[in-house]
Amino acid sequence: MGPPGQGRGAGERRARGAAQVSVEGPPAAHRSAHRSTARLEQALVEVVGHAHLLSDPDVKRSFEVDWTGQYRGEARAVVRPATSAEVAAVLTRCVAAGVPVVTQGGNTGLVGGSVPDATGQAVVMSTGRLNQLAAVDTTAAQVTLGAGVTLAVAQAHARAAGFEVPVDLAARGSATIGGMVATNAGGVHVLRHGMMRRNVAGVEAVLGSGDVVSHLGGLEKDNTGYDLSGLLCGSEGTLGVVTSVRLRLVPSLPHRVAALLAWPDVGTMIAGLARLRAEVSGLEAAEYVVRAGVELVCATFAMPDPFARPYPAYLLVEAAGTLDPTAELAAAAGHLDGVLDAAVASGARQRAALWQLRELHTEALAAAGPPRKYDVSVPASGLSQFLDRVSSLLAPAVCHHFGHLGDGNVHLNVLGVDGRSAAELDELDGTVLGLVAELGGSISAEHGIGRLKRRWLGLSRSPAEIATFRSVKAALDPHGICNPGVLLADDAPDDDVGGR
Ligand code: FAD
Ligand code: MLT
Ligand code: ZN
Repeated sequence: MGPPGQGRGAGERRARGAAQVSVEGPPAAHRSAHRSTARLEQALVEVVGHAHLLSDPDVKRSFEVDWTGQYRGEARAVVRPATSAEVAAVLTRCVAAGVPVVTQGGNTGLVGGSVPDATGQAVVMSTGRLNQLAAVDTTAAQVTLGAGVTLAVAQAHARAAGFEVPVDLAARGSATIGGMVATNAGGVHVLRHGMMRRNVAGVEAVLGSGDVVSHLGGLEKDNTGYDLSGLLCGSEGTLGVVTSVRLRLVPSLPHRVAALLAWPDVGTMIAGLARLRAEVSGLEAAEYVVRAGVELVCATFAMPDPFARPYPAYLLVEAAGTLDPTAELAAAAGHLDGVLDAAVASGARQRAALWQLRELHTEALAAAGPPRKYDVSVPASGLSQFLDRVSSLLAPAVCHHFGHLGDGNVHLNVLGVDGRSAAELDELDGTVLGLVAELGGSISAEHGIGRLKRRWLGLSRSPAEIATFRSVKAALDPHGICNPGVLLADDAPDDDVGGR
């Protein structure tokens, strides 16, 4: 299956790049590139200081490869601004030099959007020093955070004031608040609190135009035109650099209980979850794993099996409240048809042990892989059908799956594809994502489009929507320097990144 149409074809894009090289000629181009690199480096050093402009190849290396190891590129330099004024000054200088800027937070993104391409042209804008923590506004239940603050630091900061960050995910130690805004991250609490966009009360950003837009007042009612903060959620660094975020918080709840429920099959588990949602008022998470994944995690991390016997499918649910939800959860689980076994944990250590079984899937699969990753959602009514059909379509490939069952979000990981050619991987992508589209699902539930899925955007978005995306991009990033080649396919050659 070929990719959906998105304007210019790959051949035309390659021809455009080739024409530029032949016009300038290699030696002159090399000399002038060297001079312009030196000039830009000097200008950037004037903004951030020598210590924060990294150009040594060994120091740059970790910024040039993504978490999956599948996307590798080369950066002209890595720049580490500490304030939004410095971000604006860096962008302005890159605009003047016509140099693309790839924004990078914790580099935990899973769609290849956070690393530069192989041309060595782009500057990586690392947000790690945008790490300001304002005091928690306990009256508004909000906090203003620098974009480079990690989720774990934000969580500790909020907890110290009696609050929680509503969005949580396993990469919390490295993923940044800015990166989570830029990807509109989901995670394990979406069924209670929604994705990042719902929890952002305002954003400050430097747009590709060089303009600084700042809307950090945190008013819950503010009907004064376009929602620029909402637009920046999910923009994947293609419109500008998020520098600061006004985040909604939720009160820390004193009682919390987790349960791992074992099931004969995924279909029965889906029906059971629908009843649990109706009966357990404080349900915060409903995550699923299956036997093959549990075996992989236990073998990779030398962990014990959760039950004395193996079961085909497992649902990890967590509930929290001002009153202890254990009895409510136990009663609801006790009435469910098909539950084969259950482990209940209310202590923090026991809960963490259950969560490890779920959260270590990504690392276990990376160690066994690299896997071809598909982060998709399908309507709850089509979920079982999707899993059955995709496994038989891809057989005999090994298909692992797990995910956020409460959100209809499946993380499908296909192993054994390492040696496949780009054309074979395209065919695999077309098969999986085509089926998702046929069932009314989304080709990206929560990780974004990045470089990995840009060729397939047309399966989830209409030509009119994609044209509107381009208009928005042209208005906010008129020089096209913000993450070219991410999200929208036209801006860069298809063969710009190794490892596709
Ligand atoms: P990066 O990887 O650095 O960047 C991601 C994208 O955002 C890039 O396009 C980048 O250019 C852009 N960007 C980053 N910072 C900014 C900024 N300040 N301004 C503008 N653009 C910016 N994701 C989920 O949604 N749910 C999960 O449950 C989940 N679990 C994960 C578990 C593991 C083990 C791992 C490795 C990843 C997981 N992810 C999950 C994916 C990832 O953690 C999220 O996408 C996260 O939001 C990325 O944040 P980051 O700071 O690492 O961003
Ligand atoms: C998760 O929910 O664990 C993730 O989004 C990461 C993955 O898809 O591997
Ligand atoms: Zn996920």
